[in-house]
Amino acid sequence: MKRVYLKTFGCQMNEYDSERMLALLREEYVPCAQPEEADLILVNTCSVRKKAEEKVYSLVGRFKHLKSRRPEVVVGVCGCVAQQEGERLVKRLPHVDLVLGPRTVFRIREALQEIEAGRGPVVWVELDTDWSPPLPTPSENGRPVKAFVTIMQGCDNFCSYCVVPYVRGREVSRPPEEILREVECLVAQGVREITLLGQNVNSYGRKERGFPTFAELLRLISEIEGLWRLRFTTSHPKDLSEDLMRAFAELEKLCEHLHLPVQSGSSRILHLMNRKYTREEYLEKVRRLREMAPEVALTTDIIVGFPGETEEDFRQTLTLLEEVRYQEIFSFKYSDRPFARARDFPEKVPEEVKAARLEEVHRLQARITEEIYRSYIGRKEEILVEGRSERNPLLWTGRTRTNLVVNFSAPEGLDLKGALVHVLIKDTGKHSLRGEYVRTLKGP
Ligand code: SAH
Ligand code: SF4
Ligand code: F3S
Repeated sequence: MKRVYLKTFGCQMNEYDSERMLALLREEYVPCAQPEEADLILVNTCSVRKKAEEKVYSLVGRFKHLKSRRPEVVVGVCGCVAQQEGERLVKRLPHVDLVLGPRTVFRIREALQEIEAGRGPVVWVELDTDWSPPLPTPSENGRPVKAFVTIMQGCDNFCSYCVVPYVRGREVSRPPEEILREVECLVAQGVREITLLGQNVNSYGRKERGFPTFAELLRLISEIEGLWRLRFTTSHPKDLSEDLMRAFAELEKLCEHLHLPVQSGSSRILHLMNRKYTREEYLEKVRRLREMAPEVALTTDIIVGFPGETEEDFRQTLTLLEEVRYQEIFSFKYSDRPFARARDFPEKVPEEVKAARLEEVHRLQARITEEIYRSYIGRKEEILVEGRSERNPLLWTGRTRTNLVVNFSAPEGLDLKGALVHVLIKDTGKHSLRGEYVRTLKGP
């Protein structure tokens, strides 16, 4: 058997693509932990911010000496930077043999055959090509308790700061039968929790004739026996429908967590971002959701220092954070991206100002997150046990339905991996809760 080293950057869609690539290679390659040991080196890349892209160039650059020592090693760059750079990548880094965009990654075996036949380097970055993930094969590293299923590819929203529509292409949804088959297949392998993935899952099926809506798809999937938990990400606020809100209230398996990226609290900035909602419309949707399904925990993404963002605009982001009280946020300094319109917007915010604003957002959110974490103390939570905690193998680890990590103790001799249990929350950490096992509800 040959060895493959695969390093993944970026979002969960990349993790999914990487997993499926490894599955496609499984007959010929076993994964290895160090690039020095590998016959095939793959880097699955992210281009969403400048920093992510720079990381790729520096990492792939380091493989040059490996290649000069062992010219038979194949070096491949996949994913969003591969798509963005195309031929430029092999020009800048001539030791790269393979460039596959997000729409062509599943043609990895065919690409390797081309290289073996001496027809490399292979650069496949067509966006208007058939894209269809392979069915999952059982993984070797134990039975995973949870898995991702990508239900759509690409994005049509063109937020003015974002590169994704250019590197993942136009939005396409996978046929519902295919998605159901994939979930059934994972459940048969022992998976209990599925997270549906897409850049904007709530516009699922909108362009395809005869497809269910996203809320209808959730209903279909939640009927699959043996599946215990269902999640999804990401949702665009403009497409958050009443029907989807209702799904939280009605579908027992659908976990009470919604990632609803707001990006900014200022309607003026939201308009410049081309987000197609105002602060007031966003807050109204949050209010309505909480009315229909009060248990749902919200998380969000924030960009600070978008071109033209004034001190007053930024204050509005802070007051929105206070008002919504997200359980957790992911916040970023704005960065110029290729193709994205905001690159040409005037009034760029200086780096020090962005850094200071990010710091302020962190400080405020840390307080809110801590308060929310504390409110869990004394509560009995349903946890799907993923296995032993990596930090402390005496503890078990899993997540609440609201997606918080819980590490907990349990009597010796119990094998809880894959079980659904009740845990009494006793304490909080910075990124997790601590608790004690109460009883097993289901499984393993
Ligand atoms: N489809 C998702 C987001 C995908 S990108 C959505 O619409 O919410 C993940 C996050 O990266 C975005 O929500 C945004 O907060 C951030 N991001 C995207 N482009 C960025 C840029 N140019 N600079 C800084 N952050 C950016
Ligand atoms: Fe980017 Fe906007 Fe599409 Fe999200 S919805 S991927 S932020 S263009
Ligand atoms: Fe990054 Fe591509 Fe995902 S740019 S965030 S890996 S879609």
